[in-house]
Amino acid sequence: MKVGEMRYLWLLLGTCGWVLLILTLATKYVDLRAINDYGRMIHNHHWVVSSMRQISLSSSESALRLSLDPSTVERWGTLVERRNQLISTVCKDSQIRNLTHVAIKKSVLDRIYVSDKNKILYCQIPKLANTQWKKILMVLNGAYPDVKKIPDKIANDQKKNGLIRLSSFSSQDITTRLHTYFKFFIVRNPFERLMASFNDKFVKNPKFEPWYRHDIAPAPLAKTLNSKLDNAIANAGLQFQHFARYLGDVGNRKRLDQQFGDHIVDWMTYAELCAPCEINYNVVGHYETLQKDAPYILRAAGISKLVSFPAIHPAITRFNKTRMQDLFSGVRKEDIRNLYARFQGDFRLFAYPRPDFLMMSDDQA
Ligand SMILES: *[C@@H]1O[C@H](CO)[C@@H](O)[C@H](O)[C@H]1NC(C)=O
Ligand SMILES: *[C@@H]1O[C@H](CO)[C@@H](O)[C@H](O)[C@H]1NC(C)=O
Repeated sequence: MKVGEMRYLWLLLGTCGWVLLILTLATKYVDLRAINDYGRMIHNHHWVVSSMRQISLSSSESALRLSLDPSTVERWGTLVERRNQLISTVCKDSQIRNLTHVAIKKSVLDRIYVSDKNKILYCQIPKLANTQWKKILMVLNGAYPDVKKIPDKIANDQKKNGLIRLSSFSSQDITTRLHTYFKFFIVRNPFERLMASFNDKFVKNPKFEPWYRHDIAPAPLAKTLNSKLDNAIANAGLQFQHFARYLGDVGNRKRLDQQFGDHIVDWMTYAELCAPCEINYNVVGHYETLQKDAPYILRAAGISKLVSFPAIHPAITRFNKTRMQDLFSGVRKEDIRNLYARFQGDFRLFAYPRPDFLMMSDDQA
């Protein structure tokens, strides 16, 4: 090779190096911006969902197939880490301690499903893709070859799904699993979850659980009737405004909740159900971004090669402000404030901002 050619080659190599360096720096800058947006958002209490959408903007339709490219995995990992930091910060806030801390009692251990084979613990919360996660655990257990082959009815039947609860182990085995297994659960905007629970139990009742309407609904309704609501409303059945007033009323609720027993899991707080201040969960996924969180969880748990999460269209999971405004338009501001006070722990632990747009002005004098 001639000297001239050598020089040319070195020049070319140098140029490539520079281009690479600039590209790397540019990528880092973009990453940092995405992360900063999230950090700012936690402090300023903007809707988490909108900022997360920024992060997912770059991803194509293939995100719907629920696979993540490596750079998304990395960024999502940073986001999950920030969420976890927020949880531990809020857990230390003594002002809302009674809303965030619960003992790891049997009712909590009952909610946690175990996969010993893959060392996974999943704390189930009704309606937040709960059935899908149960199916995934069933496939991992080897009972079924594919998530699609499992009927919902079987997955939701405690006697038939074959899933093991953490409460069935000895206390030492429980402790070992809590310390060494991969742990996760899913949350959603607490008010959207109440909305979904209300629809599921008192409006559509698709699972044929008539006791909600017959046994549980009359109690909050009777309570509101005492405060000058007339029979016309009684005839129309339980409305969301009655449900909201009932949930926000701490004293009355305690008494009735006990009477209703297990049936109230749909409106217990995430803190009460899964004890996130006591149990160090690896990932708390958000329903609003399930398209990213679900595949991230599968990867983080080391099972992405064994199972996949079915595609869910973002329109189903995304936060809808209009829908919430519509639903709460009939609820007294005072009741909304009480309701927020009651669910404040969940809002703050999981970075859901205070829904001021619902509480702004007083229409009631
Ligand atoms: C939690 O404690 C605060 C006072 O520190 C009290 O106002 C609130 O009612 C309590 N909430 C519950 C659910 O016990
Ligand atoms: C939000 O909810 C409203 C009322 O239920 C509905 O009309 C609208 O289409 C929803 N918007 C989106 C973006 O899903």
